[in-house]
Amino acid sequence: MIRNFRFTSFLSAAKPLTSFACSSSPARHPPQFTSSASTPLRITPPKTPLFLRTPSHAAPLSEVLKWQDWAKDLASSVKNSSTKSEDSLDSILLLRELKWLTEDSITDDITRRELGGEKSVKLRASLEELYELWRERIVNRRPFQYVVGCEHWRDMVLCVEEGVLIPRPETELIVDLVEEVVRRDDWFRRGVWADLGTGSGAIAIGVGRVLGGCGRVIATDVSPVAVAVAGNNVGRYELQGMIEIREGSWFEPLKELEGKLVGLVSNPPYIPSDDIPGLQAEVGRHEPHLALDGGVDGTDSLFHLCDGASRMLTSGGFFAFETNGDKQSKMIVDYMNSDLKNIFSDVKIVSDFAGIGRFVTGFRL
Ligand SMILES: C[S@@+](CC[C@H](N)C(=O)[O-])C[C@H]1O[C@@H](n2cnc3c(N)ncnc32)[C@H](O)[C@@H]1O
Repeated sequence: MIRNFRFTSFLSAAKPLTSFACSSSPARHPPQFTSSASTPLRITPPKTPLFLRTPSHAAPLSEVLKWQDWAKDLASSVKNSSTKSEDSLDSILLLRELKWLTEDSITDDITRRELGGEKSVKLRASLEELYELWRERIVNRRPFQYVVGCEHWRDMVLCVEEGVLIPRPETELIVDLVEEVVRRDDWFRRGVWADLGTGSGAIAIGVGRVLGGCGRVIATDVSPVAVAVAGNNVGRYELQGMIEIREGSWFEPLKELEGKLVGLVSNPPYIPSDDIPGLQAEVGRHEPHLALDGGVDGTDSLFHLCDGASRMLTSGGFFAFETNGDKQSKMIVDYMNSDLKNIFSDVKIVSDFAGIGRFVTGFRL
């Protein structure tokens, strides 16, 4: 099932992943991977998304249908709101989310009302919790992905929770860009890649799957919640052997890899601080500001990444950074072509599905 959420207006179709075989003759020699034990301890384990919980609750069909009717009424009522604005909820989308919430939490078929109201229905959450979850979605504008505990991204289902950015559809393109360079030159397949500010681990896992079991990916994040959630997602895709999650700020946990990375990818915080209060309620009120706030003009982390890329990438290494769009991307390209002149080649802006200059990519000379 592909789910389309409203944070971005473009639906990216999930694509089947191409699997690659490792070639035995590298064009160049990728660096040796040195592992370091750095997975931190976290007091609270990551939450289990609704669809992975055991159906340990039960309720009479009549009560489940009553919840569903109440939830539909609440969803439909938002369109009658007199305070409709750009940031209002959309009842059509809410009804779609209700369908997904029902699918994730109820294992039995509840569409056949003729079965009789007393039939017992198995649930992955108590009815009480389902009422609460839907109230939070509508009244508190809690993002649907936090309500169900997961997000569909590329062909994966990633666990997410408060404290971790919900991966966006446009970010999927970073994995496509990596796939393109890996396909062109097998050397990239067996080297060490880094995903900085990994959040849920989305990009790291996407890249890990593109490498097809040959290379390594090290993903860093300064947030312990992100580190725990990313580690959990890596485990769910059985990639612990090739993806290592390290807690720390940007390049700090990668010291032994200076000048050795064949690839560096990141979707850092890039929203200008002054724009944060005007964000959609789901984003501004619920997603971690650490993942969003990029400083005065949004470029603090991006410039830091550019400087770091010059130190961390080996000759020929590839980088891809996501930005807020055209203006920021141009600032980054200008910086790389002036202050970091003669360090990178083929620095360019790549557009997202909406035609916005969303990514800056290039190669270390
Ligand atoms: C825009 S989110 C991207 C998350 C994920 N890569 C994605 O695309 O969905 C930025 C991430 O950078 C992390 N971050 C912020 N400051 C950081 C720092 N100093 N060092 C490492 N990561 C940082 C945040 O915790 C957050 O997970």
